[in-house]
Amino acid sequence: MKMVLASKNPHKLTEMAAILSQLGVEVVLESEVGIDVDVEETGETFEENAALKAQAVMEASGLPAIADDSGLCVTALGGGPGVYSARYGGEGLTDRQRYELVLSGLSGQLDRSAKFVSCICCVFPNGDRLTARGECPGIIAYAPQGEDGFGYDPVFFVPEKRKTFAQMTGEEKNAISHRGRALEKFKVELERYLNGTHQ
Ligand code: IMP
Repeated sequence: MKMVLASKNPHKLTEMAAILSQLGVEVVLESEVGIDVDVEETGETFEENAALKAQAVMEASGLPAIADDSGLCVTALGGGPGVYSARYGGEGLTDRQRYELVLSGLSGQLDRSAKFVSCICCVFPNGDRLTARGECPGIIAYAPQGEDGFGYDPVFFVPEKRKTFAQMTGEEKNAISHRGRALEKFKVELERYLNGTHQ
């Protein structure tokens, strides 16, 4: 089965394809099916935004579409940047400028706890919908470490691994990340759905 990923982020494609290929699902970018959908993320929750994106791409492509809405929630920032993670600090900032904003927002803060959240929504042309949520707890490092990954990876430190996300290989990150966890749950849901045993 072909599924269109409602995202232009090739990092997300790699992470999703690695897990969903185990079910024989081929995940492709919008550009590969000739569409370019710009969805305004007007939802107040990750769940709502994932559903908005998947629905729009399913309608444009006529194919099952999968979307992930994700973000970083920092306790001392009142749960922010949360659903605003991609646009934290305004449009046009680099990933680095955004994570530096998080670091400066936490200056002098003792509570550096945070979590990444990912909500996945898949919408089928017949209107059926599957959803899954995953979280990964961690703490915000005092300074960026590591070269890999994207977004806030260099400042998201996972105590059990003693590494930031940006210091992990793709495999290591997938095994514990919010998206990896949401995808594992989604994989179970999709398997049930494809076997006709979904409730
Ligand atoms: P989305 O594409 O609307 O889900 O935007 C999510 C934003 O949250 C991204 O632009 C990143 O800034 C951040 N984010 C989500 N997942 C990750 C991750 O795995 N690592 C680093 N940053 C992430």
